[in-house]
Amino acid sequence: MDAIEVIVAKRERRELSDPQIDWVIDAYTRGEVADEQMSALAMAILLNGMNRREIGRWTEAMIRSGTRMDWSVLDRPTTDKHSTGGVGDKITLPLAPLVAACGAYVPQLSGRGLGHTGGTLDKLESIPGWRASLSAEEMLAVLRDAGAVICAAGDGLAPADKKLYALRDVTGTVESIPLIASSIMSKKIAEGTGALVLDVKVGSGAFMKDVDTARELARTMVDLGADHGVATVALLTAMDRPLGRAVGNALEVEEAVEVLAGGGPSDVVELTVLLAREMLAAAGVSGKDPADALKDGSAMDAWRRMIGAQGGDPDAALPRAAETTVVTAPSSGVLARLDAYGVGLAAWRLGAGRARKEDAVSFGAGITLHARPGDAVREGQSLMTLHADDATRFDRALAALDGAYAIGDAADPALLPLVIDRITP
Ligand code: URA
Repeated sequence: MDAIEVIVAKRERRELSDPQIDWVIDAYTRGEVADEQMSALAMAILLNGMNRREIGRWTEAMIRSGTRMDWSVLDRPTTDKHSTGGVGDKITLPLAPLVAACGAYVPQLSGRGLGHTGGTLDKLESIPGWRASLSAEEMLAVLRDAGAVICAAGDGLAPADKKLYALRDVTGTVESIPLIASSIMSKKIAEGTGALVLDVKVGSGAFMKDVDTARELARTMVDLGADHGVATVALLTAMDRPLGRAVGNALEVEEAVEVLAGGGPSDVVELTVLLAREMLAAAGVSGKDPADALKDGSAMDAWRRMIGAQGGDPDAALPRAAETTVVTAPSSGVLARLDAYGVGLAAWRLGAGRARKEDAVSFGAGITLHARPGDAVREGQSLMTLHADDATRFDRALAALDGAYAIGDAADPALLPLVIDRITP
């Protein structure tokens, strides 16, 4: 077999055979198929698509490029959540210990932020001492101790995807539903979870800007999960405005801890409880209701054990940025809209995110929102506080917020409901 034959087949809109898919993924992982050949194939797939059989086989081949984790030694079911990413999306932090407190194990491999969306590992690394890199044995020990573990994926997990995702990032081939779905699901299936809930974000601050494309991505991933024996459900949720009141690493950890203490913003609490119920139902675990586990302190106990088992000090003071500035309401009325992308871009410019994989993030940088869409505001009232280590960052962050919010008579009727749709197998 050779790469040109496979590229031409997809260029001519033909279906790729199982042996062609197996060969091209394996040969690319080994370095026999060159980056320029794989980028031509990725572009042909982006333009001409793949059917369900091809996507399933592609995903399978990426899983087989590395190791598949196995949690069968555990005495309770495993369940996990994956979010396609957004602004202020700290849900994983309270969710994993909450679900553990309700009786399932949560083995979660997470990522870092790139661009305007945050990453779970960056958030947790703002906790002094906390370690993202664990061996499989350490993961198992944390799971047994706390019921939940959140850590970085090792090099052995879907290495074909690691290589291909980096290539897609620089060749304009990220936005392909078959490639996104197979990339996400190969990692989640290789992670070995028995059940999976997908939080597919929709809106300006998300990958998927419109509901129809998000629904197609969700359907493709739910089908892939079902085909690989992982009980998978997807929720389509709003990312046209930020989630909660905190955007930025340490600020989001603080908000997650508020939720675990029984408080926190209503949208974060609602989505956390809803996703927890979905994760438990997908795993077939019935017992304590997640809303009760937030109130009785058991979710907080699981959080403290999970953070401590990974070297973190749950009582340590979190990093704070040295400088702040406040944005005030230009008039009185109702905050009609607050654009997720604008806020995410501003937080990124304040130092909360990274432009290149090797960049460091500022743990204290970010934005605290004092009003959310639908809230009444008075002229001169503070709408948000910007946090940065260096005051020279404020001008560019303020420029990102220009036009990102509007004050009117009522909330914009075009705002999406928090939960837009639910996709099942
Ligand atoms: N996240 C992934 O892991 N892969 C993609 O292709 C897109 C988002």
